[in-house]
Amino acid sequence: MAEGAILIAATGWDMAAWAEGIRQAEPARPVFVTPEVRDPAEITYALVWSPPADLFRALPNLRAIFSLGAGVDHLIFRDDLPDVPIVRVVNPDLTKRMTEWVTLQVLMHHRRQRAYDAQQRARTWHELRQPAARDVRVGIMGLGVLGSDAAEVLMRLGYQVAGWRRTAADVPGLQVFHGVAQLDAFLARTDILVSLLPLTPATRGLLAMPLFEKLAQDGALHGPVLVNGGRGGSQLEKDIVAALDGGVLAGASLDVFEHEPLDPDSPLWGRDNVIITPHAAAWSDPAPLALAMLAQIAAFERGEPLRNAIDRTALY
Ligand code: NDP
Ligand code: OXD
Repeated sequence: MAEGAILIAATGWDMAAWAEGIRQAEPARPVFVTPEVRDPAEITYALVWSPPADLFRALPNLRAIFSLGAGVDHLIFRDDLPDVPIVRVVNPDLTKRMTEWVTLQVLMHHRRQRAYDAQQRARTWHELRQPAARDVRVGIMGLGVLGSDAAEVLMRLGYQVAGWRRTAADVPGLQVFHGVAQLDAFLARTDILVSLLPLTPATRGLLAMPLFEKLAQDGALHGPVLVNGGRGGSQLEKDIVAALDGGVLAGASLDVFEHEPLDPDSPLWGRDNVIITPHAAAWSDPAPLALAMLAQIAAFERGEPLRNAIDRTALY
């Protein structure tokens, strides 16, 4: 089979860097960046992030869509999706970056780094007592590629780790809860709640007051903490603020928001017990990810199946 042409269509991304990586790795393969397409009929693969409306209707010979990121909510709810595989990013580079971020946030709250930062600014020498990791219960919502890797590292650090996922599974060394029926039990044993959930109709708005109120209030920390690296659409920011104000949450680390970028007037910005990062928990580095996509395309053109294609009914 001839080498199919690639179209890169990504809002808010450095498309030139992706195109450059692909051209260097495979000079013979035609690569276009929206809106500069020679002939839409020659495009076989689309590499996308929040692509322009109706893009797919204009590409009659598309054979596969690659999401530039791990999440697919930026494209799965559109009405122009053709019936071709949608492949998402599953790559150790991205996974390790997310695990770094999650581990950093868990440690920041557990080891009270924000309080030490304030003490340093005030030139105060005062030791704050902290529980051992073995006395802190971390609960990870979304125990997929990213959640499982973070769980492994947190377990190595000695935390009591549990996970919550949609379907049942046995994971050695890990307490796994699943489904709505087991959510309350999972929350009741959780001091630090980490969300690495995809955004679907079932997860939209889930991280809200009724859920926060079910978190353990008897833990070794000064109250439960929320860490969200999944999607902002899963959280209600007004409820996070209210929960922080009311002592239902003791702190939060948020990488994702209902609307990005986060409004400069958001009350979340000014709080010492809230750590904000700009959807940067796990950057999609074009260098390793573009090579992995090309390897997938080459295998597909040899007749092999595409790996990490999403389940179109589960929506993630
Ligand atoms: P996976 O598809 O591997 O894992 C998703 C997990 O969520 C699975 O365990 C799945 O359950 C679970 N899940 C989905 N729906 C539900 C539900 N309704 N109830 C309970 N559990 C549910 O995805 P990844 O781990 O690769 O990525 C997760 C998300 O992280 C992405 O979708 C994206 O939104 C976000 N992300 C954020 C980044 C950032 O920079 N902030 C970077 C990369 C990703 P099951 O195992 O049963 O299928
Ligand atoms: C994401 C990503 O899905 O950056 O957010 O991969």
